Amino acid sequence: MSRISGPRQGGSVETARFDIAVRLAWDWNVPINSSRPWWQHSVCYQIYVRSFADGNGDGVGDVAGIEQRLPYLADLGIDSVWITPFYTSPQLDHGYDVSDYRDVDPLFGSLADFDSMLGRAHALDIRVIVDLVPNHTSSEHPWFTAALASAPGSRERERYVFRDGSGRGGAKPPNNWRSIFGGPAWTRVDGGHVDDDGPGQWYLHLFDASQPDLNWWNPEVGDEFESILRFWLDRGVDGFRIDVAHGLYKPNDLVDKKRGDRAPMPMWDQPEVHEVYRRWHKILEEYDGQRMAVAEAWTDTPESMARYIRADELQQAFNFHWLSAKWSAAAFRDVVTETLAAVSLVDATATWVLSNHDVVRHVTRYGGGDKGLARAKAAVLMMLGLPGSAYIYQGEELGLEQVAVLPEHREDPTYFRSGEVGRDGCRVPIPWSGSEPPYGFGPGDAQPWLPQPAEWKDLTVEAQEADPDSTLHFYRKVLATRREVTTGISDEVTVLGSAPGTLALRRGDALVCIINCGSRPAKVPAEAGRLVISSGPMHGNGTLPPDTAAWFATA
Ligand code: GLC
Repeated sequence: MSRISGPRQGGSVETARFDIAVRLAWDWNVPINSSRPWWQHSVCYQIYVRSFADGNGDGVGDVAGIEQRLPYLADLGIDSVWITPFYTSPQLDHGYDVSDYRDVDPLFGSLADFDSMLGRAHALDIRVIVDLVPNHTSSEHPWFTAALASAPGSRERERYVFRDGSGRGGAKPPNNWRSIFGGPAWTRVDGGHVDDDGPGQWYLHLFDASQPDLNWWNPEVGDEFESILRFWLDRGVDGFRIDVAHGLYKPNDLVDKKRGDRAPMPMWDQPEVHEVYRRWHKILEEYDGQRMAVAEAWTDTPESMARYIRADELQQAFNFHWLSAKWSAAAFRDVVTETLAAVSLVDATATWVLSNHDVVRHVTRYGGGDKGLARAKAAVLMMLGLPGSAYIYQGEELGLEQVAVLPEHREDPTYFRSGEVGRDGCRVPIPWSGSEPPYGFGPGDAQPWLPQPAEWKDLTVEAQEADPDSTLHFYRKVLATRREVTTGISDEVTVLGSAPGTLALRRGDALVCIINCGSRPAKVPAEAGRLVISSGPMHGNGTLPPDTAAWFATA
């Protein structure tokens, strides 16, 4: 059984050691990486396809661009890539609005390009995870166009969540749910009644109006997604990232959301979703090669996140709690101990992440500039010392910051529905080389779909390759060191007593990781051992500077 022990409530502050030991149940003394599935300890690199690399020179990243840049990723030292949706789509939410789940959008290439890229990735020992979007389709999906052309109550409409409106003449939405992107979660359609051409029913869309929610109570929907899973598994993909994994089932009575920020959200995390993942688990197991799936489930607590990774469900669930935590050793300690405790309840491993294509880049979240970068490097070093797997988001290895995208360039539906800035600022295409945009993004001079800032000239891959002190070299070194140092060590994590403003963790009896979130240099605990790697310059006198993390080898 897992065990967590710590200082008693009210215990003395001078307690030298907290002794909060989080022991993962099944492998108390079993070395990691020996007999475990690859996904339990892998580092995965997230590719936002339209912004990674442009193979054909049209200013939009594509599958051929990914293939060309795979050697760069192999050199970086990652184990796998997760590629955001490249399927046929009107691109109103950049591919998260899928109109054909079994093809590649011509904007990104073809199925032949995909197969070629997959083969090359496997030849380089890189596993490939693709995105699966089961909560909604595009409004251009043939199912939805058929639903619009059919009468209420028809088989075609039963694949989505259509309802009559409330109020006089059904003129108001069926309930009070709001779209994540702003505005009501319902749109009314024209006609559709058998003998009436007037305004008709409403359909549910928890995101953009171009992303109608599927009706998972209808078995036809589940059957279709099982067939889609098999389509990509047969092509050889190693796994799936499940978009909005906590969303599929909506309560049939579509009960109103009560007022207040803390009121339950009836549209999320319904128990029935877990049955879907039990079925998918069985499908993944039918295939050789340790296929897997990772849940994007924004749940309230580490415990509810852990329900997605019970032994017969999905293999990983992003732990978004660090990503939402402020820069604070106490907050990081709580995230680590609560996450490890929650995953140990279900005998699973943690999946760490600091940035993705939906959130402000963490250099900026931690304050931006030199301070933000120092903190970002410290946080990632701390995170990569922990047991479990980790995801890094394209461009974080270059220390990129969130870009202030001007309104005329914005493409995120969040901006159009809510007027908020939206997510474009973390999706600006990667600078590869040269001293001005497009920074080698594609083969020619085509400017990328979002403008790149002038200050990125010093942050290109080419510039950072040439600078041994660059963020890129730091990431390479951390990933190589992680492989070397954490191979074979235990998953036991102990929180050590350490100076105020710091967090010190011991992993097994081999590694001590310390981060200083305070404003003063902090003494390194005596038991830390030999310095292995640090995220910034170290003081020679056994202290850790502010905004810095370091690993020490105890053996
Ligand atoms: C997920 C994706 C996000 C997308 C949304 C709707 O949260 O990460 O980018 O907009 O789902 O599919």
